[in-house]
Amino acid sequence: MPPPPQTETAAAGGGRSRARRIAHRTRDSCVAVFCSTLCSVLLAVILVAGVALFVAWLGLRPHRPRFTLSSFSLSGPGGQGQGQAAFNVSDRNPNRHIGIYYDGATRASLRFYDALVASGPAFPAGWYQPNMTTISIAGVLDVVGPTPADPAAWHSFSAALHAGRLPLRLELVFSGVRFRVASVFHSGRQRMHVKCDLLVGADGNLLRESVGTSCDRYL
Ligand SMILES: *[C@@H]1O[C@H](CO)[C@@H](O)[C@H](O)[C@H]1NC(C)=O
Ligand SMILES: *[C@@H]1O[C@H](CO)[C@@H](O)[C@H](O)[C@H]1NC(C)=O
Repeated sequence: MPPPPQTETAAAGGGRSRARRIAHRTRDSCVAVFCSTLCSVLLAVILVAGVALFVAWLGLRPHRPRFTLSSFSLSGPGGQGQGQAAFNVSDRNPNRHIGIYYDGATRASLRFYDALVASGPAFPAGWYQPNMTTISIAGVLDVVGPTPADPAAWHSFSAALHAGRLPLRLELVFSGVRFRVASVFHSGRQRMHVKCDLLVGADGNLLRESVGTSCDRYL
């Protein structure tokens, strides 16, 4: 006896909706698998790119130039405003692939603790230093102090000079320093300060222990 038509129709409808449910579920799980694969691939790409960038940065990261004091002398010691201070500082660019631009003026000043002893321009000013090269920065400054108007500083300056161990600090200020990577990328411009602590003997010359002193630098 054949089943009633409406039952058949219901059964067929039930079968169709089951098929549709299965199709839905299959499509949903396909989408899920696709999404998670895509996510994994994206994560892997991001990770690899990050590691590659980090390695490139390690290799290309700019190192600050290195400064050492080559020579220094104070003439007309006594410092009563008529002497001169001559210096020569060696400047090494240690970067294998990075050149350094020094834009604008180079200023030098000489201090005895806080008292200004001399100041003036240093040379060269405004140049490009290629990778792995060394240049000399030199200058002759007019001595302006410490003046007898500053009795405490003046007294200890004279006493230290007579004792043959005068501590001075030479400061260089570069108005703008930029790094050049692979002739395409330029870093932003930064001011750079260099400080060299030195000891001068009674004759105004650098004590042997101060020759080749390395200087601190701040960007
Ligand atoms: C500075 O020192 C270097 C090497 O010691 C020398 O070649 C250069 O001529 C000196 N510069 C000045 C201005 O004295
Ligand atoms: C300076 O950098 C250039 C370009 O990166 C390179 O070809 C050259 O060999 C480097 N010079 C030195 C002395 O390392």
